[in-house]
Amino acid sequence: MMIKASSKEYKLLVHQDFSFMETLLQSDNALYVIDKKVYKLYYDKLFSGIDTESLYLIDALETNKNINTALEICEIMTRIPAKRNAHLISFGGGIIQDITGFAANILYRGIRWTFVPTTLLAACDSCIGGKTSLNYKQFKNLLGTFFPPDEIHICPGFFQTLTARDYESGLGEVVKFNMMSGSQGLERMEHELPLLLDRNEDKLNEYIENSLLFKKDFIEEDEFDRGVRIHLNFAHTFGHAFETMSEFAIPHGTAVAIGMMIADRISLSRGWLKEEKVQRMENVLLQIIHVDLSPIPMDMDKIIAAIKKDKKQTSSDLTAVLMYDNMKLRIVHDLKEHEAEEAIRYVYEKIG
Ligand SMILES: NC(=O)c1ccc[n+]([C@@H]2O[C@H](COP(=O)([O-])OP(=O)(O)OC[C@H]3O[C@@H](n4cnc5c(N)ncnc54)[C@H](O)[C@@H]3O)[C@@H](O)[C@H]2O)c1
Ligand SMILES: [Zn+2]
Repeated sequence: MMIKASSKEYKLLVHQDFSFMETLLQSDNALYVIDKKVYKLYYDKLFSGIDTESLYLIDALETNKNINTALEICEIMTRIPAKRNAHLISFGGGIIQDITGFAANILYRGIRWTFVPTTLLAACDSCIGGKTSLNYKQFKNLLGTFFPPDEIHICPGFFQTLTARDYESGLGEVVKFNMMSGSQGLERMEHELPLLLDRNEDKLNEYIENSLLFKKDFIEEDEFDRGVRIHLNFAHTFGHAFETMSEFAIPHGTAVAIGMMIADRISLSRGWLKEEKVQRMENVLLQIIHVDLSPIPMDMDKIIAAIKKDKKQTSSDLTAVLMYDNMKLRIVHDLKEHEAEEAIRYVYEKIG
C-alpha cells in the first residue's frame, strides 16, 4: 500500500512472517529504537545481532513520551557521520511511534524513518496519518507535528505477545473502523470478531489492511485534520475523557470502544439510529471491553469537564461525531450535556 502525503509518498507492507527483518537489521547508518519490553521478548528471535552503539531502548510509558527522550535520540544520532543518510528504525506501539516520529522530524529538519508497529493499535490505525505527539508536564499530546515514516512494516507475529489489555485496545480501533464503514462492517464484526479474538494471523492481516484502507481515504483527502478527517474522531470525544480520568489505566482503543457505546446511545435517543442496530453494535463492543469503571466515580461534572478538555471542543454545547440514518457519520456541534450524561449513565450501568 502506498500513502500520499504532501511531504512524500510512503510505503506500507504487511508481512506473513518475520523474514523481512533480515534486510532491515542490516541497514546502513541506522539507529534502532526499540520498546524495551519488545526487545526482551524478541531478543533471541530478532534482535540479538544489533550492536549496542546502534541501539536505544525505551520503556513504553506515557512519562517517557516527552521532549527529553526525543532530544536524547537526536543526540545519539549525531554519532552517525553520514548526517543526511542517518536512518532511524523504530519498533513499538504508539508511544515509541510518537517519540521517534518527532525526533526523526526535527533532526536535521527530517531524516529517514522506518517504523515497525508492534501493537495492534499502532498497526491498524496510528502508523499512518503522520501525527506525532509528545506530552509536556500535565498536558497529554501537547506538542506535535505531522511527519509520516518513509516505510512501515507490519507483521502480525508481534501481536501474539500483547497482553489481553493491549490486544483488546487495538481491537477497539478495528471495530471502530468497521462500524464507521456501515452495516456491512457491523455484520463482518458479528461474524469475525471471534477469529480476531483468537489472534488468527490471516484474519488479523485482512482486518489491519481493511482498517488502514478505510483510514487512508480520509488522511489523503485531509492530511492536516481540518475537514473530513475529523470524522475519524468518532467516539474519541467521549473515549478521551475515560482515558485521562483513569490515568491511562483504560488504554486508548478500549476507551474508544466505551466512547462508541456512548455515541450510539445518544444517536438512539435522538432517533437517529434504530434500537436493533444499537443493540447489535453494543453486543460486539461488549466482547472487547473488559474494564472496571469503579475507580472512576460517576461524577457527571467531572466527566463533562473531561470531555470539554478535548482539543476538538470549541463551543458551549459539545462537539462530537455521531451516527445517523443507518450508520452514516455526522459532526454535530449542538450536543447538550444532558444528552451525554444520560448515555454515560447507561454505559456505567452496562459495564460497571
Ligand atoms: N500518533 C498517533 O496518530 C496516535 C494515535 C493513537 C494513539 N497514539 C498514542 O499511542 C500511545 C498508545 O499506543 P499503543 O496502545 O500502541 O501502545 P504503547 O506504545 O502504549 O504500548 C502498550 C504496551 O504494550 C507493550 N508492547 C508493545 N508491543 C508489544 C508486543 N509486541 N508484545 C508485548 N507487549 C508489547 C508496551 O511495552 C506497553 O507496555 C498513546 O501515547 C497515544 O497517545 C498516537
Ligand atoms: Zn484512536
